[in-house]
Amino acid sequence: MQINQKFFLPACVLAFVASIAVLTGIANIAHAKSNPSWGPKWTRAGDLVLPSDYHEWVFLGSPLTPHALNGGKAAFPEYHNVYVQPEAYVAYRETGSWPEGTILLKELQLTRPAVHDDGSSMEVSGRGFFPAALNGIDISVKDSKRFKDTNNWGFFNFGHRPPPYEKTAAALPIDACAGCHIANADNMVFSKFYKPILDAK
Ligand code: HEC
Repeated sequence: MQINQKFFLPACVLAFVASIAVLTGIANIAHAKSNPSWGPKWTRAGDLVLPSDYHEWVFLGSPLTPHALNGGKAAFPEYHNVYVQPEAYVAYRETGSWPEGTILLKELQLTRPAVHDDGSSMEVSGRGFFPAALNGIDISVKDSKRFKDTNNWGFFNFGHRPPPYEKTAAALPIDACAGCHIANADNMVFSKFYKPILDAK
């Protein structure tokens, strides 16, 4: 086959540009998978930025550890309202595992002031526990690159007190959080408490 000298160089340049474009595309897809657009935002220093729209996420459940039942000193007072990004929720329901970039956000909320010794109070609906002031945020993030030493999950605290919360937080040491999740949770997440909503048809 005769190669036309006039077109050879431009054709080479075109092929080179096209292959760079394809390779960049592949790299972008790979990057998007490990760091999806709906995933966590990080500061340059590697701290986690507190998401701002989590009240629009999927609500998974609300374990309750009242102060009154924990000697007045519940470790995580008192409702633990757990939210996850809608995209991660959909992926979990399809695959049975949490995708890269999942944020499980636990917002603490106090109960109405106690009337009885068990911490309960009274409303027209009956005697019980009723939600009151917001009281802090804890987060776990799935990122197998950053947190491979703690089973792919990192743990963060944005304050155990009323808002405004901290805007960013550094990952906490294994003793503070991950250790207990490694020892006691089902693959790092206490999924059994969220199953009714995760499995709901
Ligand atoms: C002594 C064990 C223990 C320690 C330490 C601990 N957790 Fe947990 N964590 C739990 C349990 C049990 C649950 C589920 C029940 C509940 O919330 O009471 C939970 C739930 C969570 C959840 C909701 C998602 C899930 O896995 O169920 C997040 C987020 C979380 N913890 C973050 C943290 C952070 C951040 C720290 C450190 C500041 C921390 N945890 C320390 C035991 C622990």
